[in-house]
Amino acid sequence: MTGLLQLLLLVSMTLASEPSCPECSKYDYEEKVLERMIRMEFAFEKVLKENKAVSKTVEQDLTRIKEDNERLQATVDVFQDQQEQAERRLVSLMEEIERNQSSTLEKIVSNSNTTLEQTIAAFNDIKDQTATPLVYFNAHFPQTTSLSTGEVIVYKTVESNQGSGYSATTGKFTAPERGLYLFFMHTCTYSTIYSYLQIVKDGSVLIKSVQYEKDAATSSSSQVFVQLDVGETVWVQCATGGSTSQLDENHSYRWTSFGGALIHN
Ligand SMILES: *[C@@H]1O[C@H](CO)[C@@H](O)[C@H](O)[C@H]1NC(C)=O
Ligand SMILES: *[C@@H]1O[C@H](CO)[C@@H](O)[C@H](O)[C@H]1NC(C)=O
Ligand SMILES: *[C@@H]1O[C@H](CO)[C@@H](O)[C@H](O)[C@H]1NC(C)=O
Repeated sequence: MTGLLQLLLLVSMTLASEPSCPECSKYDYEEKVLERMIRMEFAFEKVLKENKAVSKTVEQDLTRIKEDNERLQATVDVFQDQQEQAERRLVSLMEEIERNQSSTLEKIVSNSNTTLEQTIAAFNDIKDQTATPLVYFNAHFPQTTSLSTGEVIVYKTVESNQGSGYSATTGKFTAPERGLYLFFMHTCTYSTIYSYLQIVKDGSVLIKSVQYEKDAATSSSSQVFVQLDVGETVWVQCATGGSTSQLDENHSYRWTSFGGALIHN
């Protein structure tokens, strides 16, 4: 482009210096024209050469710029790539931390829950071992008043029977729990009447009593401690029977009773 402008300028300058003198010969004129044309050609070639050189420089510059640009682009690409990788790593790290935190939290919660459950279980164990279950009973009103030797006294009116150990059908108490029990029998008789009673455990005597009063009705109580296993039985039995061996129950005044309780397990 620059070359072409230079050429136009040269041509116009040459034309501008055309001789206008009329007395010059034709030959002289042609010679001058030729000379000018040659000069113009030279000038043109020179301009062309320069133009080529400029084009080449521009081309080289362009190539260099392009290469620089490509290198720069490559560098930018690498940076971008690294940045993306870094971002991905950061995101995954944050996700991992989040997961770790929540899993740590779950572990802590579950561990404390386990600890709590174990503590509760241990506490319940201790409680079961130390607490005494509620077992007691109390009955009165013997089924028969005249007693025969070996007769089991069946107290028909049951006032309490926690743990269902006492039977008003057999008169016997069967231990629903293992432990130390306290039993009592309360005995009422008229005057001149005997009562020979004993508390027995599965037939073995635990305590014996006899009462007799010549002039008045009397009452007496006997108590005994005994260790029982589950299923062992205790009852009141007549040791010596006969026509003067009797029990009395007067609902208003005297209750002939049998009772017991688990006091320690
Ligand atoms: C996440 O937990 C795992 C396993 O305990 C551990 O190896 C990793 O380093 C933890 N990650 C972070 C970011 O704390
Ligand atoms: C803790 O244990 C109880 C009983 O097993 C269960 O019902 C509850 O869901 C547990 N709680 C947690 C947070 O695990
Ligand atoms: C109970 O005893 C009282 C006083 O001794 C007597 O008056 C009453 O008749 C007796 N009742 C029975 C049912 O034996």
